[in-house]
Amino acid sequence: MSKLIINGPNVVTGEIAVQGAKNSVLPILAATLLANEVSVIKNCPDISDVSATVEILLHLGCKVTRRGSGEIEIDPSSASGVDIPYNLMRGMRSSVIMLGPILARMGRAKVSYPGGCELGPRPIDLHISSFQKLGVKFAEEYGFIYSVCDKMIGTEINLTFPSVGATENIMLLASKVPGQTVIHNAAREPEIEDLQSFLNSMGANITGAGDNTIYIEGVETLHGAEHSIIPDRIAAATYMIAAAITGGKLIIKSVRPRDLNSVISLLEESGAQIRTDENRILIDRKRPIQPIRMVRTMPYPGFPTDALAPLMAYSTVASGNSMYVETIFQNRYKHAEELMRMGANIKVEGRVALVQGVPRLTGANVVATDLRGGVALVLAALAANGETTIDNSELIDRGYENIETNLQSLGCKIRKVDVVEKS
Ligand code: UD1
Repeated sequence: MSKLIINGPNVVTGEIAVQGAKNSVLPILAATLLANEVSVIKNCPDISDVSATVEILLHLGCKVTRRGSGEIEIDPSSASGVDIPYNLMRGMRSSVIMLGPILARMGRAKVSYPGGCELGPRPIDLHISSFQKLGVKFAEEYGFIYSVCDKMIGTEINLTFPSVGATENIMLLASKVPGQTVIHNAAREPEIEDLQSFLNSMGANITGAGDNTIYIEGVETLHGAEHSIIPDRIAAATYMIAAAITGGKLIIKSVRPRDLNSVISLLEESGAQIRTDENRILIDRKRPIQPIRMVRTMPYPGFPTDALAPLMAYSTVASGNSMYVETIFQNRYKHAEELMRMGANIKVEGRVALVQGVPRLTGANVVATDLRGGVALVLAALAANGETTIDNSELIDRGYENIETNLQSLGCKIRKVDVVEKS
């Protein structure tokens, strides 16, 4: 366990290159299991969710070599495992993404129910019902899900909600299922396109990612491939907000501004000045922070649910009221209470939060409740007067690479302290 200690106020200024995308690297690492040859994945962020995924690959029998500079080499040729035990599944809901590749490789799998952020119930019914349509049989016993491939054949799948994980899992499994699989109402996130591009470089035949219908022609074998992970749009959004909330000026490099249109337009509405080119964003805020009238999270290309908590931290010091509506997860406001300890004025009613801006936040002892809620506290603390201590900051390490050293390099007074757990 760890805590972050931040002394504010700070002004975030300088240049930063954004890490590779957490939400791309996890399914792409899972995809390497579909081949019998070595794959090399570059630009992998050094975050604990990647370490957890590597643990699962090792458990399944892969040989994994992590090199500096974000390169991971996976040799799946000796992988023969079919199960993911509870202790590996618990920390990360996205571990369910392994189900498709294990089934495609071994024809059967045993996984426990996945863990992850405390964002309310996160069922996997869409993964299961889609796999059933492809010919997978499921049984449940003692908290484990047993699955076995029966007569597998491509089919039409209509997702009732454009689930990111379910779309990816179907792509992973169906890439090796004979015949054509069509996913209707597929998720359109940039990370889905990144997965398509990696799978196709392994020899898969997939088209349509980025649109709401994806076509997958099953192939018999996939080979190893090399791939570089796209930039993390949520980390980029977080650093943009760090500059905006502190009245700083930041150049974000190695980023794809086109993935961030919904975030950029709201930050501009709040008074930030933003300029973009092909792979850089310059953000500068001198004017007072204006409230953001309405933020509604939506599947891509709408405003991302993962950027809700960071943006909300920003609104706490706006000159007026901002309204937030969370439509993706049920329980995404746990950080609100912690922000209130720092002087924020927030009212939460179900999926709606009303943030009444205050002139200044003050440092306090707070607790990170989940990954994005945790980083929202970092943003608030950067702007607050005095010292803030954020407990359970290891949750932030799930998705952010070197957040404290990155912020130090941007002129912030932040340090990390390891906490020894009492037995
Ligand atoms: C992915 C992202 C996560 C992001 C989320 C929404 C990864 C590793 N994680 O998570 O950061 O917040 O997309 O953009 O890529 N649902 C069901 N049944 C299912 C599947 C999902 O009811 O079978 C519900 C979930 O409970 C949730 C909503 O659908 O309320 C969105 O889930 P989904 O799009 O699947 O998100 P994840 O893939 O888990």
